[in-house]
Amino acid sequence: MKNILITGGAGFIGSHVVRLFVTKYPDYHIINLDKLTYAGNLANLKDIENYPNYTFVKADICDYDTICELFKRYDIDGVIHLAAESHVDRSIKDPFTFARTNVMGTLALLQAAKMHWNGQWEGKRFYHISTDEVYGALDFDDTFFTETTKYDPHSPYSASKASSDHFVRAFHDTYGMPTIVTNCSNNYGPYQFPEKLIPLFINNIRHGKPLPVYGKGENVRDWLYVVDHARAIDIIFHNGKIADTYNIGGFNEWKNIDLIKVIIKTVDKLLGNPEGTSERLITYVTDRAGHDLRYAIDSSKLKNELGWEPSLQFEEGIEKTVRWYLDNQEWMDNITTGEYEKYYESMYGVK
Ligand code: NAD
Ligand code: TYD
Repeated sequence: MKNILITGGAGFIGSHVVRLFVTKYPDYHIINLDKLTYAGNLANLKDIENYPNYTFVKADICDYDTICELFKRYDIDGVIHLAAESHVDRSIKDPFTFARTNVMGTLALLQAAKMHWNGQWEGKRFYHISTDEVYGALDFDDTFFTETTKYDPHSPYSASKASSDHFVRAFHDTYGMPTIVTNCSNNYGPYQFPEKLIPLFINNIRHGKPLPVYGKGENVRDWLYVVDHARAIDIIFHNGKIADTYNIGGFNEWKNIDLIKVIIKTVDKLLGNPEGTSERLITYVTDRAGHDLRYAIDSSKLKNELGWEPSLQFEEGIEKTVRWYLDNQEWMDNITTGEYEKYYESMYGVK
């Protein structure tokens, strides 16, 4: 496999996947297709933008004709599909954009791949990146999501991702396309847009701004360092079984309020503030509509079949992450002006 199309490569997880593939596989031509929405940022890829095996194309995955033309121009062998609208709160305000990009955009990519590959499936692969949120919500005394857990999405975001997963599987079952789907837990690490919990809170602590905790802060998420997700994608893309599904997660559950206290402690430590200084910023706000109580992933299939395990312990990962955001304030400042300020005010009612 030589020409790999990675969609959404200018986003958070996509930029880590592009970096890994461009640097690890000099024989592959990596084509990064991204619309550069508010969440896409070419600054995430500054360090690799001049590599000879890397090409960036600004395009919308919903634009079927352009996608068909790109498949032809670059003779694409493999797709790693990450482009999506990814934030639950935005999906609650604007579900149409989520259906358009996540469902119709995925369908456009699948159809373009099918037309280009024309039944010659040998050496081809369509790998779709999805989320554990399609499985719905767990109670505190439930066990984990496994690959056979029934889909039960609750938010417009997770409903759109579930729908796209079904289309991918349908293209295997109907046409024989070599597909793979993976469902990963919450990611954290460098280059995440500061609308998601961890970068938002690190940035707010730095500015002494309130930390809006939804509801009682009792919801549980399962956190994985983004580079470990990229490593899993590499392994699964190359060695995963066609038509199969793998869950990806680090067995690392945190109640939001406990995680927030770890973030506060780490930021205060690195800023040289006395321990506990920023706890006064914790502000309980109205809960998110339909807020899923708990996500927890069982990734033992991936470990047993393909030997993947997270490489970083959470304590190390979170310290690395906080340090990165504090050391890269220019990156943060460049994306938290203009449109972001308007979004922030509309979400939280304060500047
Ligand atoms: P992100 O929002 O940071 O990045 C999404 C990228 O897709 C951006 O670069 C954006 O410009 C691009 N994009 C959006 N609409 C597009 C369109 N119509 N055409 C082309 N490009 C478009 O998202 P992320 O957090 O990096 O997530 C990447 C993928 O991983 C998504 O499919 C998401 O559902 C999945 N996922 C995310 C997490 C997580 O914790 N962030 C966990 C599991 C799965
Ligand atoms: P988020 O990072 O948006 O990821 P997801 O909703 O996909 O899990 O949120 C993580 C958790 O943090 C989730 O339970 C919602 C909560 N949260 C807050 O309490 N306050 C916030 O401002 C945000 C953005 C999230």
